[in-house]
Amino acid sequence: MCGIVAYFGKKQAQPILIEGLKRLEYRGYDSAGVALLKANQFEVYKTSGRIANLEEILPETESRAVVGIGHTRWATHGVPNTINAHPHIDYTGKIALVHNGIIENYAILKKWLIKEGCTFKSETDTEVVANLIGYFYERNRARNGENAPSGSNRFEWAVQQAFNEIYGTYGLAIMCSDCPDVMIGVKKGSPLILGVGKEEYIIASDASAIIEHTSQAIYLSDGEMVTIHSEGFDTKTISNEEVTKELKDIEISLDQIELEGFEHYMQKEIAEQPQVLETCLKGRVDVKNGRVILGGIQDKLRDLTRTKRIILSACGTAWHAGLVGEFLFEQLARIPSEVEYASEFRYRNPIVDEGTIFIAISQSGETADTLAAVELAKERGATVLGIVNVVGSTIARTTDAGVYLRVGPEIGVASTKAFTAQVSVLTMLAIELGRRRHLSSEMAQGLLKELMEIPKKVEQIFSQKEQTRQIAQANIDKDNWLFLGRGFNYPVALEGALKLKEISYIHAEGLPAAEMKHGPIALITDNMPAVFIATKCSQYEKIIGNIEEVRARGGRTIVVATEGDEHIKPYADHLITVPDTVEQLQPLLTVVPLQMLAYHAAVLRGHDVDKPRNLAKSVTVE
Ligand code: M6R
Repeated sequence: MCGIVAYFGKKQAQPILIEGLKRLEYRGYDSAGVALLKANQFEVYKTSGRIANLEEILPETESRAVVGIGHTRWATHGVPNTINAHPHIDYTGKIALVHNGIIENYAILKKWLIKEGCTFKSETDTEVVANLIGYFYERNRARNGENAPSGSNRFEWAVQQAFNEIYGTYGLAIMCSDCPDVMIGVKKGSPLILGVGKEEYIIASDASAIIEHTSQAIYLSDGEMVTIHSEGFDTKTISNEEVTKELKDIEISLDQIELEGFEHYMQKEIAEQPQVLETCLKGRVDVKNGRVILGGIQDKLRDLTRTKRIILSACGTAWHAGLVGEFLFEQLARIPSEVEYASEFRYRNPIVDEGTIFIAISQSGETADTLAAVELAKERGATVLGIVNVVGSTIARTTDAGVYLRVGPEIGVASTKAFTAQVSVLTMLAIELGRRRHLSSEMAQGLLKELMEIPKKVEQIFSQKEQTRQIAQANIDKDNWLFLGRGFNYPVALEGALKLKEISYIHAEGLPAAEMKHGPIALITDNMPAVFIATKCSQYEKIIGNIEEVRARGGRTIVVATEGDEHIKPYADHLITVPDTVEQLQPLLTVVPLQMLAYHAAVLRGHDVDKPRNLAKSVTVE
């Protein structure tokens, strides 16, 4: 939530910041701004709206400043207007900063700072940080009355004083107009990376804003800060203890974050699924022996096999994948499992003990709710595993062990390829646990053989792109949709509804199909499309019955069925088919047409598919 980028080097900072912000825009797009530092003066440009709006207000001649910071905002405190846009400058005019996160005690600090004579312009929590640093810098004296130690860097000292007072989450880049040859980055709870190039440094919320300039970076941990200066950089804790950080290779490449001829990232990421799922499965599946090798959690398999309970926890789409996981663990491994909304989990004093296996699922690895659930599960002694996409992300580093999705960066706000990879990883894990418990090798071999066919089968679904577009077109004026599925296709119904809601702004509800008759059936009219996921499975006859119930009430149906199923045709006003596969793997196929349907509906309604209103890709606030 919010993207920050900062440049310190010998090149003109402005174009680098703007390019970086465009790469980070998926993190928030309520407002944007840059501050450039030259000759001890800040030049600040900020505006509500997108980076494109910011470009419009930049002067025609690019600033020659070689140091600067930039921000793209997902609003939390204060409406998304120009005053609340970052960068924020403190009351002395000497400190400028950009921030991603939330300052929890900002109200108390603001009150105190106002009493001390500081003035505020915005409604944001961030301005408190700027004023607090400015306050300590100006006074050169700590709260306890002690002066800054002589010989210390006063700017760095003031930053440390401020962060002694602050509670919350933050990733920040900070400049001081008195010190144009110093820039400071501070991190706690929000991601912050320092890209290290040749005589240049880039601080950013994620690697996408860095990769064009260097492939080497250090990943700051919580409570750490970096001070960049003309001789290099130092890393230490906020309480001033030195820390040594390892320079790491950034694992993404430029082409992974380019559109490469697609109109939208979501479209690209749907299309990438056959190839990325192959990568996700590669080297992990041994069909011949009916076994799975997941290197990252090999040491934990003994605990996993013996556990009496698995808790999966996640948010949004990852939660839907977790629900498929719950069904898989119970059915294939016979381990009692439950999926929990991470946002609810930590606030209800859940029963977690040392025998519990807790699995966090997160594409970004930065979702604040999921991270908080991970921390609680750890505190209570559970073995905590992660199924995460972003390598080196906070959740990946906080869990005891984990499995990466290997699908490359997912940039579209609507999650697509991460879902199918999450389900693939959960399937592999459930099969391996099953094998270690009671699942026969024949059964495991059969499932794994089918799993390896999935990438090819996803590709086959794409031949119905135009058909899906036409179905979206035929229903584009409908403002309420139902998505219904049973068994393994019930989580897919939830996911189909979420996809449609978040990018096309059409109200949609996902339900277990049989639940419809307990209330929602009252909504059925010919004005409310009902999307049924009715593939050949153990509940096929039952879902046909549910379709009948809708049709009997004049409802219109869009049916996702198994290829070659002639019987279902009369039940469908619109039909999309997926290749046949075993029941447990069907979500990997049935979700794809629903992703396509949502994509076309959003395009047809003229929405910005990759940047839906009010949303951001990674939700790093609770
Ligand atoms: O990065 P995460 O997987 O932890 O994100 C969880 C949700 O915020 C995310 O899946 C969200 O629901 C997507 N916008 C859905 O498309």
